[in-house]
Amino acid sequence: MEERMISGELQEDDQSLELSLRPNNLDQYIGQDKAKGNLRIFIEAAKMRNEPLDHVLLYGPPGLGKTTLASIIANEMGVQFRTTSGPAIERAGDLAAILSSLEAGDVLFIDEIHRLPRAVEEILYPAMEDFCLDIVIGSGSSARSVRLDLPPFTLVGATTRAGLLTAPLRDRFGVLSRLEYYETKDLCAIVERTSDIFLVDIDKDAAAEIARRSRGTPRIANRLLKRVRDISQVKGEKQISKETTRTALEMLQVDAAGLDHIDHKLLLGIIDGFRGGPVGLDTISATIGEESQTIEDVYEPFLLQTGFIQRTPRGRQVTMKAYEHFNREVPEA
Ligand SMILES: Nc1ncnc2c1ncn2[C@@H]1O[C@H](COP(=O)(O)OP(=O)(O)OP(=O)(O)O)[C@@H](O)[C@H]1O
Ligand SMILES: [Mg+2]
Repeated sequence: MEERMISGELQEDDQSLELSLRPNNLDQYIGQDKAKGNLRIFIEAAKMRNEPLDHVLLYGPPGLGKTTLASIIANEMGVQFRTTSGPAIERAGDLAAILSSLEAGDVLFIDEIHRLPRAVEEILYPAMEDFCLDIVIGSGSSARSVRLDLPPFTLVGATTRAGLLTAPLRDRFGVLSRLEYYETKDLCAIVERTSDIFLVDIDKDAAAEIARRSRGTPRIANRLLKRVRDISQVKGEKQISKETTRTALEMLQVDAAGLDHIDHKLLLGIIDGFRGGPVGLDTISATIGEESQTIEDVYEPFLLQTGFIQRTPRGRQVTMKAYEHFNREVPEA
């Protein structure tokens, strides 16, 4: 599948950038007031009691700041940040080794926690609940189980697919925080913060233009800003202007609503081919030459979320918003 400018997923180009842009504490972490406000109180309380923070599950779409928030939790608690991920832990022994190397109070971050193998997950239950590790020594009739104590620690799990988490695992988190798509004003602030770090000046309207096209996602805002900055620099601008920003984003094929050529293909395919729908997913798939599964999992969620498409019992249907976006007449019934 081709890489899209407006995908929330981490891309190779983002990697070098993200470390330097990652906020280090709650004050630098823009937006997400609900999640942030709650965490602030829990962190404060845990510190007063001199206890580790309760286990935290962060969930929400890619690029919204889950990993960032996890590392901020460790910073704010003043403890070490240890990281691993679901797919990286293959055997129960791997996780047991990580757990037994923790120090009191540490934050253990498990990214993509929904991808932990089941046998590994079961090690986590007593570890999260009672800070202990049940291991089996020996085999056959001489096998016996011993219980090892672990230092108290905080598990921070992150997932884009909270629905895939098993109930016993989910229930062991004391704090569940859902990250939401960012409002434009918060993305503006993020674009301005990133510009400061880049040591470039950006016009307020230019920042707003990038924010509006970033699909509520800081990772996309930073990625677009980086490309716009390059073009502005080549033009020799002292300050990134709104005009340059618009031209640059047009060149990158990101339109005023943050839609790209694939979104256009999908929406216009339904408008032009099926009088706006409703039309079945498989029919759309055959018409535009993309797999149904990809449409459903990757292309469609943002369009549904922002109300360009509706799901009906008879298939997908574009909305008034889509007609207005493309300046098209709604066909008569
Ligand atoms: N609240 C925020 N304020 C400022 N910048 C942010 C914020 N949230 C995220 N960012 C920026 O967006 C980038 C991506 O965030 P992060 O890697 O934490 O997302 P994620 O939710 O972990 O994504 P993934 O699902 O792919 O793991 C960060 O490097 C950071 O620069
Ligand atoms: Mg992450």
